[in-house]
Amino acid sequence: MSHRILLLGAPGAGKGTQSAKLADAYDLEHVTTGDALRANKDVETEHGTPRSYMEAGELVPDPVVNEIVEQALSDADGFVLDGYPRTLEQAEFLSSITDLDAVVFLDVDEAVLVDRLTGRRVCESCGANYHVEFQPPEEPGVCDECGGDLVQREDDTEETARERLAVYEENTAPVVEHFRTEGVLETVDGEAPPEAVFERIQSVVES
Ligand code: AP5
Repeated sequence: MSHRILLLGAPGAGKGTQSAKLADAYDLEHVTTGDALRANKDVETEHGTPRSYMEAGELVPDPVVNEIVEQALSDADGFVLDGYPRTLEQAEFLSSITDLDAVVFLDVDEAVLVDRLTGRRVCESCGANYHVEFQPPEEPGVCDECGGDLVQREDDTEETARERLAVYEENTAPVVEHFRTEGVLETVDGEAPPEAVFERIQSVVES
């Protein structure tokens, strides 16, 4: 059976880490606006390029991301959606184009989030995620999966990470409340180790 899963959580909550595991386990499309925008940072839109917003930690305008998601979901049978919706307008648009089987919120304290973001390293070649302390690669700076170089994302400096968390509180926390009010939100403790978090998400998805 195919699943349509939405993962919600603040920057650094572990959405990307858990989405990759879910996509693998259930053979789902991993639809992530963050990766899609990073791959198209310099594409001109009528609102400018995504780069300027992303490097400041601000949200890219709704029409740009809505179009990315509509296209990606129309090609997907089952999916795990990560990084979207981030505004109430995006949430409304999403409910007009698809139904969801599970909505999971990864709950993580703000102090933990800053440590996770500033210590994250990403493989330049295959996109695999690491953390210098919590999920270190076997050899520092080298990807276990493909041998590529591990780099820090441009928006993972402490200043931009804090701005992203403020933007999350203002724009995206209301989206979490929206799903909670609808009675469909399942909250999972995102501070447990990645494998334990994954097991808890699996039990939500399979219930
Ligand atoms: P995006 O790429 O979506 O970033 P984000 O939401 O800020 O989320 P992150 O990727 O930072 O965190 P994550 O929750 O995936 O955590 P991860 O698993 O990597 O968006 C970037 C930008 O794009 C935005 O700022 C905005 O400009 C734009 N954008 C994107 N979508 C948009 C939208 N819909 N509308 C408008 N603009 C949009 O984990 C983090 C670290 O913690 C890793 O190092 C990992 O190894 C570690 N870790 C993970 N889980 C655990 C654990 N359980 N224990 C210990 N360490 C862990």
